[in-house]
Amino acid sequence: MSTKTQAHWQALSADWKRLQTVHLRDMFDHASENRFETFSCSVDDLTMDFSCERIDADALDNLLKLAVAADVEGARDAMYAGDAINTTERREVLHVALRGERADGYMVGGAPTADLVDPERDRFLQFADDVRDGTYTNAQGARFTDVINIGIGGSDLGPVMAVRALTDFRESGPNVHFVSNIDGAHLTDVTQGLNPATTLILVASKTFTTIETITNAKAAKAWLQTALSATDADANLAALSTNMDATAEFGVAADRVFGFWDWVGGRYSVCSSIGLSVALSVGSANFREFLSGFRAMDQHFKTAPLDQNLPVLLALIGIWRRNVMDCPTVALIPYNQRLEFFSDYVQQMDMESNGKSVTKSGDTLTRATAPTIWGTPGTNSQHSYFQMLHQGTDIIPADFILCANPTSPLDYQHKLLTANFLAQSQALAFGKTSDEVRTEMLAKGVAADEAEALVPHRTFSGNRPSTSIVYADHTPFSLGRLIALYEHKVFVQGVIWGVNSFDQWGVELGKVLARRVEPMLDADADTSSLRASTRGLINAINALKG
Ligand code: F6P
Repeated sequence: MSTKTQAHWQALSADWKRLQTVHLRDMFDHASENRFETFSCSVDDLTMDFSCERIDADALDNLLKLAVAADVEGARDAMYAGDAINTTERREVLHVALRGERADGYMVGGAPTADLVDPERDRFLQFADDVRDGTYTNAQGARFTDVINIGIGGSDLGPVMAVRALTDFRESGPNVHFVSNIDGAHLTDVTQGLNPATTLILVASKTFTTIETITNAKAAKAWLQTALSATDADANLAALSTNMDATAEFGVAADRVFGFWDWVGGRYSVCSSIGLSVALSVGSANFREFLSGFRAMDQHFKTAPLDQNLPVLLALIGIWRRNVMDCPTVALIPYNQRLEFFSDYVQQMDMESNGKSVTKSGDTLTRATAPTIWGTPGTNSQHSYFQMLHQGTDIIPADFILCANPTSPLDYQHKLLTANFLAQSQALAFGKTSDEVRTEMLAKGVAADEAEALVPHRTFSGNRPSTSIVYADHTPFSLGRLIALYEHKVFVQGVIWGVNSFDQWGVELGKVLARRVEPMLDADADTSSLRASTRGLINAINALKG
């Protein structure tokens, strides 16, 4: 660990020694300050309240000093300047340029990124509108009713999350479906009942070598060609990739290949042509609004002082939870059905970026990095695993997200949703003491011995941290802004941990081994080179096959 940050880590440990015996109840009830005012931050209509985290002003100050010592600002500026900060792949990291404007001045290889981004963005958004309004049709002149995006990881999770999140902005757009899994059931289920003649297939793959995507794309192409003539089927295929040779080889006409660049990481690519399915669903104007939301957060992250910088503060809260409090997981709970897949999306963004155990220079890390990120929308989650969040033996910090205005006409439901959102952070932070439980039960007429037996079960320790994020309306803009908040949070944490947040070597070995094992699944294959576990499982699987 860098000597520059050493003293700050030590100061944070001392802060925790002081705070770990202090209850959030006392922090609120005996505070000289208004904790909400001290521990919240707003940008326009977006407010982040971290007053229910187990920190005080000194701890926050030391977290901010850690960010300064880790040179978060320098690293941020290097990213925006187009430095090759993805060192193991020798690449720039410029997803911000995808939603930037020419005036932002992003440069790559000595030229403005806008020279590349603007025309390609115009092309794929024009195509989206052409499909939506019937200017671009199938070979027989019929409109496309359905779109299937075939991709995986970053070429799936962003689009699937955003299409779902922006359902209310679809208007007359086609139905958009997603196929990602190599399990044939996924493609079979999705194509079931669809008319190949009016289905547009998007093959989304940055590398165009991902075996799941290419295998599913070949099967989808065959599905089209079986129903249509080979020439007619061509019109129903488009590709989103950086690998133009491979898309040509796959047989996608060049005017339906929409590109992006190797300086865009897969999990940061939803603003590139990988977002075409989103644009097909909501139209180019809404997609441009979506990009504006990202850009608003990009500008904020770039210019706001650290102590008023939302991604920086969110990142520092995460550092406090992960490295100081030693919490290995975070529950990300949107109280918003439209954000059904938001946690899945952030899970890849966060865990693939910062799930590393060596520094940029290859040294083994002595501190923990990415926590496990998981979650599903409230209130469903309350009736599933929240028991453990409230009374389990582990402290599981939570991020709660709420949109102030409803996304449905059912206002009363939204009031209840909001009440539940507020109740959870209260319950986690303040709990319910054994005295409160006892008094309540006795007041209800429960016999004293029965009440005493139930007290331990009905007591909530509280003192469990959470951060709450609220914003006004659920729109393409607010979605883009929310995503960028988490993207930059991940970036800041990667800088503090000293890891390269933009490679993903950890997924390679499994891919290589799958390719090696695949031929050994044949009944008469020689499996002697495998270890006993894999060999034994292959024998068991083969014996079980019908
Ligand atoms: O799972 C590894 C990964 O490389 C992700 O980073 C990426 O988003 C995904 O595979 C898909 O890759 P591609 O877009 O190249 O098919």
